[in-house]
Amino acid sequence: MVKRTAILISGSGSNMVRLVRDMTGDHPARPVLVLSNVPGAGGLAKAEALGVPTAVVDHRPFGTDRAAFEAALRAKLDAARPDIICLAGFMRILTAEFIAAHAGRMLNIHPSLLPKYRGLNTHARALEAGDAQHGCTVHEVTAELDGGKILGQARVPVLPGDDAAALAARVQAAEHRLYPAVLRRFSAGDRRPLNIG
Ligand code: GRF
Repeated sequence: MVKRTAILISGSGSNMVRLVRDMTGDHPARPVLVLSNVPGAGGLAKAEALGVPTAVVDHRPFGTDRAAFEAALRAKLDAARPDIICLAGFMRILTAEFIAAHAGRMLNIHPSLLPKYRGLNTHARALEAGDAQHGCTVHEVTAELDGGKILGQARVPVLPGDDAAALAARVQAAEHRLYPAVLRRFSAGDRRPLNIG
């Protein structure tokens, strides 16, 4: 049975594009929805160009009412009947209730070698710490922020003269290799951690 996969984005969607492009041929998953909380997010047009159905649930009218926002999000998601949900630059924190409802089938990509640097500004923090290596992690989403089971990591060197932007670009290239490789394995039922790069 093909795994129906929904991808949640907030921005340019470069990871989403890599995931969608990989889901062809013998891949066990297929994209069924790209959902954004940001109207006009760059990734929406890219998804449409790739022939993937899109939807938007703008979080702003809901203000601080996360439950109401997530109810609207779930209405769109449930209609697409996803088996797997990939967060790909989705910049809203989800409630424990939402996460519990999708336990074991929601993935996220985070731009650090977890458990280092949960949260934001990961590239600046790696530079500040003088790390020789940095990278990205795909993990299962649990109620603990950036804390779920690690499904894969890709490493990149930190080079002399790097600033946060240069390092971010190198990490993002690694994200584009890692996330499709992890989704391919995960959707085939393989949850063993993958290490590349
Ligand atoms: C990625 O760097 C990811 O690690 C972070 O948000 C960024 C999304 O980029 N969570 P894109 O929208 O996939 O281009």
